[in-house]
Amino acid sequence: MKTSVIRINPQKIEISKIEEAVKLIKKGGLVAFPTETVYGLGADAFNSKAVAKIFEVKQRPLNDPLIVHIADKQDLFKVAKKVNRLAGKLIDKFWPGPLTLVLEKSSELPDIVTAGLDTVAVRMPAHPVALSLIREAKTPLAAPSANLSGKPSPTTAEHVLEDLKDKIDLVIEAGKTELGVESTILDLTQKPFSILRLGGVSWEELRAVVPQVKLAKKEKILAPGMFKGHYSPQAKLIVVEEGKKQVERVKELVHKFLAEGKRVGVMAKGEDRFKYRNFKVKVLGKGDDLRACAGNLFSLLREFEREKFEVIVVEGVKEKGLGRAIMERLRKAEGR
Ligand code: TXA
Ligand code: MG
Repeated sequence: MKTSVIRINPQKIEISKIEEAVKLIKKGGLVAFPTETVYGLGADAFNSKAVAKIFEVKQRPLNDPLIVHIADKQDLFKVAKKVNRLAGKLIDKFWPGPLTLVLEKSSELPDIVTAGLDTVAVRMPAHPVALSLIREAKTPLAAPSANLSGKPSPTTAEHVLEDLKDKIDLVIEAGKTELGVESTILDLTQKPFSILRLGGVSWEELRAVVPQVKLAKKEKILAPGMFKGHYSPQAKLIVVEEGKKQVERVKELVHKFLAEGKRVGVMAKGEDRFKYRNFKVKVLGKGDDLRACAGNLFSLLREFEREKFEVIVVEGVKEKGLGRAIMERLRKAEGR
Protein backbone atom coordinates (compact mmCIF):
# COMPACT_ATOMS: atom_id res chain seq x y z
CA MET A 1 0.00 0.00 0.00
CA LYS A 2 1.10 3.55 -0.66
CA THR A 3 -0.02 6.33 1.68
CA SER A 4 -1.33 9.42 -0.09
CA VAL A 5 -1.03 12.87 1.45
CA ILE A 6 -3.58 15.61 0.86
CA ARG A 7 -2.97 19.11 2.14
CA ILE A 8 -6.09 20.95 3.31
CA ASN A 9 -6.20 24.55 4.45
CA PRO A 10 -8.48 24.55 7.52
CA GLN A 11 -9.50 28.14 6.80
CA LYS A 12 -10.56 27.27 3.27
CA ILE A 13 -11.64 23.67 3.09
CA GLU A 14 -11.95 22.30 -0.42
CA ILE A 15 -14.83 19.88 -0.24
CA SER A 16 -13.53 17.79 -3.16
CA LYS A 17 -10.53 16.85 -1.01
CA ILE A 18 -12.74 15.87 1.90
CA GLU A 19 -14.79 13.76 -0.52
CA GLU A 20 -11.67 11.86 -1.55
CA ALA A 21 -11.02 11.02 2.09
CA VAL A 22 -14.65 10.05 2.60
CA LYS A 23 -14.46 7.59 -0.29
CA LEU A 24 -11.61 5.81 1.46
CA ILE A 25 -13.46 5.74 4.79
CA LYS A 26 -16.53 4.25 3.04
CA LYS A 27 -14.35 1.53 1.53
CA GLY A 28 -13.11 0.59 4.99
CA GLY A 29 -9.83 2.47 4.66
CA LEU A 30 -7.78 4.32 7.28
CA VAL A 31 -7.41 8.09 7.12
CA ALA A 32 -5.21 10.13 9.44
CA PHE A 33 -6.66 13.57 10.10
CA PRO A 34 -5.85 16.62 12.23
CA THR A 35 -7.72 17.50 15.40
CA GLU A 36 -7.07 20.37 17.79
CA THR A 37 -5.15 17.97 20.10
CA VAL A 38 -3.13 15.52 17.99
CA TYR A 39 -3.57 13.73 14.65
CA GLY A 40 -6.05 10.84 14.78
CA LEU A 41 -6.19 7.64 12.72
CA GLY A 42 -9.80 7.35 11.64
CA ALA A 43 -12.02 4.52 10.43
CA ASP A 44 -15.80 4.12 10.18
CA ALA A 45 -16.71 3.18 13.77
CA PHE A 46 -19.45 0.88 12.46
CA ASN A 47 -17.11 -1.11 10.20
CA SER A 48 -15.47 -3.71 12.45
CA LYS A 49 -12.99 -4.80 9.82
CA ALA A 50 -11.76 -1.26 9.28
CA VAL A 51 -11.47 -0.77 13.04
CA ALA A 52 -9.52 -4.03 13.32
CA LYS A 53 -7.02 -2.59 10.84
CA ILE A 54 -6.41 0.37 13.17
CA PHE A 55 -5.26 -2.01 15.91
CA GLU A 56 -3.13 -3.90 13.44
CA VAL A 57 -1.23 -0.99 11.92
CA LYS A 58 -0.69 0.75 15.25
CA GLN A 59 0.34 -2.53 16.88
CA ARG A 60 -2.11 -1.64 19.58
CA PRO A 61 -3.27 -4.25 22.09
CA LEU A 62 -6.87 -5.26 21.41
CA ASN A 63 -7.81 -4.54 25.03
CA ASP A 64 -7.16 -0.84 24.60
CA PRO A 65 -10.42 0.84 23.46
CA LEU A 66 -10.67 3.68 20.92
CA ILE A 67 -12.29 7.09 21.15
CA VAL A 68 -15.29 7.67 18.87
CA HIS A 69 -15.40 11.08 17.18
CA ILE A 70 -18.65 12.78 16.23
CA ALA A 71 -19.49 16.08 14.57
CA ASP A 72 -23.06 16.65 15.72
CA LYS A 73 -24.60 16.24 19.15
CA GLN A 74 -27.44 14.05 17.92
CA ASP A 75 -24.89 11.49 16.70
CA LEU A 76 -24.07 10.82 20.33
CA PHE A 77 -27.13 8.57 20.45
CA LYS A 78 -25.68 6.34 17.74
CA VAL A 79 -22.85 5.34 20.05
CA ALA A 80 -24.03 5.99 23.64
CA LYS A 81 -27.08 4.51 25.34
CA LYS A 82 -28.03 7.38 27.56
CA VAL A 83 -26.77 10.84 28.14
CA ASN A 84 -27.55 12.22 31.58
CA ARG A 85 -28.09 15.85 32.51
CA LEU A 86 -24.56 16.27 33.72
CA ALA A 87 -23.10 14.99 30.46
CA GLY A 88 -25.38 17.47 28.69
CA LYS A 89 -23.98 20.30 30.77
CA LEU A 90 -20.38 19.35 30.04
CA ILE A 91 -21.12 18.94 26.36
CA ASP A 92 -22.68 22.40 26.16
CA LYS A 93 -19.64 23.90 27.82
CA PHE A 94 -16.75 21.97 26.25
CA TRP A 95 -17.81 20.60 22.84
CA PRO A 96 -16.49 20.87 20.29
CA GLY A 97 -13.21 20.60 22.21
CA PRO A 98 -10.63 18.42 23.93
CA LEU A 99 -12.94 16.63 26.38
CA THR A 100 -13.72 12.93 25.93
CA LEU A 101 -16.65 11.54 27.91
CA VAL A 102 -16.97 7.91 28.91
CA LEU A 103 -20.64 6.91 28.76
CA GLU A 104 -22.69 3.72 28.54
CA LYS A 105 -22.21 2.18 25.11
CA SER A 106 -25.04 1.59 22.67
CA SER A 107 -25.45 -2.04 21.62
CA GLU A 108 -25.18 -1.16 17.91
CA LEU A 109 -21.58 0.01 18.17
CA PRO A 110 -19.20 -2.88 17.36
CA ASP A 111 -17.47 -4.33 20.43
CA ILE A 112 -14.03 -4.05 18.88
CA VAL A 113 -14.21 -0.24 19.18
CA THR A 114 -14.61 -0.38 22.95
CA ALA A 115 -12.44 -3.47 23.43
CA GLY A 116 -15.46 -5.31 24.75
CA LEU A 117 -16.25 -2.76 27.47
CA ASP A 118 -19.86 -1.72 28.01
CA THR A 119 -18.76 1.91 28.02
CA VAL A 120 -17.72 4.13 25.12
CA ALA A 121 -15.39 7.13 25.00
CA VAL A 122 -16.76 9.92 22.78
CA ARG A 123 -15.66 13.37 21.78
CA MET A 124 -16.40 16.13 19.29
CA PRO A 125 -13.10 17.57 18.06
CA ALA A 126 -12.73 21.32 17.57
CA HIS A 127 -11.02 21.25 14.19
CA PRO A 128 -12.81 22.29 11.01
CA VAL A 129 -11.15 19.55 8.94
CA ALA A 130 -12.06 16.81 11.42
CA LEU A 131 -15.63 18.07 11.68
CA SER A 132 -16.03 18.30 7.93
CA LEU A 133 -14.63 14.80 7.42
CA ILE A 134 -16.95 13.24 10.02
CA ARG A 135 -19.98 15.11 8.68
CA GLU A 136 -19.36 14.15 5.07
CA ALA A 137 -18.62 10.54 6.00
CA LYS A 138 -22.03 10.51 7.75
CA THR A 139 -20.69 8.13 10.37
CA PRO A 140 -18.82 8.49 13.65
CA LEU A 141 -15.10 7.81 13.30
CA ALA A 142 -13.20 5.57 15.67
CA ALA A 143 -9.83 7.28 15.98
CA PRO A 144 -6.90 6.76 18.30
CA SER A 145 -3.85 8.99 18.01
CA ALA A 146 -2.13 8.27 14.67
CA ASN A 147 1.16 6.95 16.06
CA LEU A 148 2.64 3.48 16.59
CA SER A 149 1.80 2.19 20.06
CA GLY A 150 4.43 3.35 22.53
CA LYS A 151 5.47 6.40 20.48
CA PRO A 152 4.47 9.97 21.35
CA SER A 153 1.23 11.11 19.72
CA PRO A 154 1.70 12.92 16.39
CA THR A 155 1.31 16.69 16.29
CA THR A 156 2.23 16.99 12.60
CA ALA A 157 1.51 14.98 9.43
CA GLU A 158 5.26 14.22 9.27
CA HIS A 159 5.06 12.45 12.62
CA VAL A 160 2.20 10.34 11.26
CA LEU A 161 4.26 9.38 8.21
CA GLU A 162 7.28 8.62 10.39
CA ASP A 163 5.24 5.89 12.10
CA LEU A 164 2.63 4.77 9.56
CA LYS A 165 3.84 5.52 6.05
CA ASP A 166 2.54 2.94 3.57
CA LYS A 167 0.46 1.25 6.26
CA ILE A 168 -2.58 3.55 5.94
CA ASP A 169 -4.51 4.96 2.98
CA LEU A 170 -4.27 8.68 3.51
CA VAL A 171 -2.93 11.47 5.68
CA ILE A 172 -4.74 14.80 5.62
CA GLU A 173 -2.08 17.40 6.27
CA ALA A 174 -3.15 20.65 7.92
CA GLY A 175 -0.13 21.88 9.86
CA LYS A 176 0.83 21.52 13.48
CA THR A 177 -2.02 20.76 15.87
CA GLU A 178 -3.06 23.60 18.13
CA LEU A 179 -2.85 21.93 21.55
CA GLY A 180 -0.26 19.19 21.24
CA VAL A 181 -1.55 16.98 24.07
CA GLU A 182 -4.53 14.66 23.81
CA SER A 183 -8.04 15.23 25.13
CA THR A 184 -8.97 14.94 28.78
CA ILE A 185 -10.93 11.74 29.44
CA LEU A 186 -13.71 11.95 32.03
CA ASP A 187 -15.57 8.83 33.16
CA LEU A 188 -19.22 9.61 33.90
CA THR A 189 -20.25 5.97 34.36
CA GLN A 190 -18.83 5.61 37.87
CA LYS A 191 -18.95 7.72 40.98
CA PRO A 192 -17.01 9.72 41.85
CA PHE A 193 -16.76 11.04 38.29
CA SER A 194 -13.10 10.72 37.57
CA ILE A 195 -10.55 11.99 35.14
CA LEU A 196 -8.86 8.98 33.54
CA ARG A 197 -6.41 11.06 31.54
CA LEU A 198 -5.52 14.72 31.86
CA GLY A 199 -5.37 16.69 28.64
CA GLY A 200 -6.61 19.77 26.82
CA VAL A 201 -9.31 20.61 29.37
CA SER A 202 -7.86 21.11 32.85
CA TRP A 203 -9.12 19.69 36.12
CA GLU A 204 -9.71 23.26 37.29
CA GLU A 205 -11.95 23.98 34.27
CA LEU A 206 -13.95 20.80 34.85
CA ARG A 207 -14.40 21.49 38.54
CA ALA A 208 -15.83 24.88 37.73
CA VAL A 209 -18.73 23.06 36.03
CA VAL A 210 -18.86 19.83 38.05
CA PRO A 211 -17.25 20.41 41.46
CA GLN A 212 -17.24 16.72 42.38
CA VAL A 213 -14.86 15.65 39.57
CA LYS A 214 -11.82 13.78 40.95
CA LEU A 215 -8.53 12.66 39.50
CA ALA A 216 -8.60 8.87 39.12
CA LYS A 217 -6.41 7.09 41.64
CA LYS A 218 -3.29 5.68 40.05
CA GLU A 219 -3.91 2.21 41.41
CA LYS A 220 -7.48 2.15 40.06
CA ILE A 221 -7.95 1.23 36.42
CA LEU A 222 -7.06 4.20 34.39
CA ALA A 223 -7.91 4.50 30.75
CA PRO A 224 -6.51 1.12 29.71
CA GLY A 225 -4.06 2.78 27.32
CA MET A 226 -2.59 4.83 30.12
CA PHE A 227 -0.74 1.96 31.74
CA LYS A 228 2.85 2.52 32.69
CA GLY A 229 5.19 2.60 29.74
CA HIS A 230 2.64 3.91 27.25
CA TYR A 231 4.86 6.80 26.25
CA SER A 232 8.13 5.01 26.57
CA PRO A 233 11.01 6.54 24.69
CA GLN A 234 14.10 4.47 23.88
CA ALA A 235 16.11 6.83 26.05
CA LYS A 236 16.06 6.88 29.82
CA LEU A 237 14.02 9.90 30.79
CA ILE A 238 14.34 11.61 34.17
CA VAL A 239 12.04 14.39 35.30
CA VAL A 240 13.34 16.92 37.81
CA GLU A 241 10.41 18.54 39.55
CA GLU A 242 9.95 22.29 39.52
CA GLY A 243 11.47 24.01 42.56
CA LYS A 244 14.37 26.05 43.92
CA LYS A 245 17.06 23.45 43.27
CA GLN A 246 15.81 22.36 39.85
CA VAL A 247 18.69 23.70 37.75
CA GLU A 248 21.28 22.43 40.20
CA ARG A 249 19.75 18.96 40.22
CA VAL A 250 19.53 18.83 36.42
CA LYS A 251 23.21 19.74 36.18
CA GLU A 252 24.17 17.05 38.70
CA LEU A 253 22.32 14.43 36.73
CA VAL A 254 23.77 15.48 33.41
CA HIS A 255 27.31 15.41 34.82
CA LYS A 256 26.73 11.99 36.31
CA PHE A 257 25.56 10.48 33.00
CA LEU A 258 28.23 12.28 30.96
CA ALA A 259 30.82 10.78 33.27
CA GLU A 260 29.37 7.38 32.39
CA GLY A 261 29.96 8.21 28.73
CA LYS A 262 26.28 8.55 27.89
CA ARG A 263 24.75 10.81 25.24
CA VAL A 264 22.68 13.16 27.40
CA GLY A 265 20.15 15.85 26.46
CA VAL A 266 18.26 18.39 28.51
CA MET A 267 14.66 19.42 27.91
CA ALA A 268 14.60 22.86 29.49
CA LYS A 269 12.23 25.74 30.05
CA GLY A 270 13.05 28.77 27.94
CA GLU A 271 14.18 30.89 30.86
CA ASP A 272 16.79 28.28 31.88
CA ARG A 273 18.27 27.58 28.48
CA PHE A 274 21.46 29.57 29.08
CA LYS A 275 22.08 27.95 32.43
CA TYR A 276 23.03 24.80 30.54
CA ARG A 277 25.50 26.28 28.08
CA ASN A 278 27.74 23.25 27.67
CA PHE A 279 24.94 20.74 27.38
CA LYS A 280 22.72 19.64 24.50
CA VAL A 281 19.53 21.54 25.21
CA LYS A 282 16.11 21.62 23.59
CA VAL A 283 13.59 24.18 24.78
CA LEU A 284 10.07 23.10 25.70
CA GLY A 285 8.74 26.64 26.06
CA LYS A 286 8.63 29.36 28.69
CA GLY A 287 7.66 27.87 32.03
CA ASP A 288 4.69 30.19 32.36
CA ASP A 289 3.48 29.50 28.81
CA LEU A 290 2.07 26.03 29.37
CA ARG A 291 0.27 26.04 26.03
CA ALA A 292 3.58 26.46 24.23
CA CYS A 293 5.10 23.69 26.37
CA ALA A 294 2.23 21.31 25.61
CA GLY A 295 2.49 22.14 21.93
CA ASN A 296 6.18 21.21 21.75
CA LEU A 297 6.29 18.23 24.09
CA PHE A 298 5.68 15.29 21.73
CA SER A 299 7.66 16.84 18.93
CA LEU A 300 10.71 17.21 21.20
CA LEU A 301 10.39 13.66 22.52
CA ARG A 302 10.47 12.47 18.91
CA GLU A 303 13.52 14.63 18.18
CA PHE A 304 15.46 13.24 21.12
CA GLU A 305 14.58 9.77 19.94
CA ARG A 306 15.56 10.43 16.34
CA GLU A 307 18.90 11.85 17.48
CA LYS A 308 19.58 8.73 19.56
CA PHE A 309 19.98 10.34 22.96
CA GLU A 310 20.51 7.78 25.70
CA VAL A 311 19.40 9.96 28.60
CA ILE A 312 16.99 12.91 28.64
CA VAL A 313 16.91 15.06 31.75
CA VAL A 314 13.70 17.07 31.80
CA GLU A 315 12.83 20.20 33.74
CA GLY A 316 9.34 19.63 35.10
CA VAL A 317 6.72 22.38 34.82
CA LYS A 318 4.17 23.80 37.27
CA GLU A 319 1.45 21.34 38.26
CA LYS A 320 -1.55 23.44 37.46
CA GLY A 321 -3.86 23.73 34.47
CA LEU A 322 -2.29 22.25 31.35
CA GLY A 323 0.90 21.72 33.39
CA ARG A 324 -0.71 18.71 35.05
CA ALA A 325 -1.35 17.10 31.66
CA ILE A 326 2.27 17.74 30.66
CA MET A 327 3.62 16.27 33.90
CA GLU A 328 1.33 13.25 33.59
CA ARG A 329 2.84 12.45 30.20
CA LEU A 330 6.40 13.08 31.34
CA ARG A 331 5.95 10.73 34.30
CA LYS A 332 4.57 8.07 31.97
CA ALA A 333 7.58 8.50 29.71
CA GLU A 334 9.76 8.17 32.80
CA GLY A 335 8.02 4.88 33.58
CA ARG A 336 6.27 6.03 36.77
O1 TXA B 1 -7.14 13.95 21.77
C1 TXA B 1 -7.43 12.76 21.66
O2 TXA B 1 -8.13 12.16 22.51
C2 TXA B 1 -6.88 11.98 20.46
C3 TXA B 1 -7.50 12.57 19.20
C4 TXA B 1 -7.12 11.81 17.96
O3 TXA B 1 -8.88 12.68 19.34
N1 TXA B 1 -7.15 10.59 20.57
C5 TXA B 1 -6.49 9.79 21.44
O4 TXA B 1 -6.86 8.45 21.34
O5 TXA B 1 -5.65 10.17 22.21
P1 TXA B 1 -6.00 7.27 21.97
O6 TXA B 1 -6.59 6.03 21.44
O7 TXA B 1 -4.58 7.49 21.69
O8 TXA B 1 -6.30 7.34 23.48
C6 TXA B 1 -7.57 6.97 23.93
C7 TXA B 1 -7.55 6.63 25.37
C8 TXA B 1 -6.85 5.33 25.66
O9 TXA B 1 -6.02 5.51 26.78
C9 TXA B 1 -8.01 4.39 25.96
O10 TXA B 1 -7.63 3.40 26.84
C10 TXA B 1 -9.03 5.33 26.54
O11 TXA B 1 -8.91 6.47 25.77
N2 TXA B 1 -10.41 4.83 26.41
C11 TXA B 1 -11.10 4.63 25.28
N3 TXA B 1 -12.32 4.13 25.54
C12 TXA B 1 -12.43 4.03 26.87
C13 TXA B 1 -13.44 3.58 27.76
N4 TXA B 1 -14.60 3.11 27.33
N5 TXA B 1 -13.18 3.63 29.09
C14 TXA B 1 -12.00 4.09 29.55
N6 TXA B 1 -10.98 4.52 28.76
C15 TXA B 1 -11.19 4.48 27.44
MG1 MG C 1 -2.65 7.29 21.81
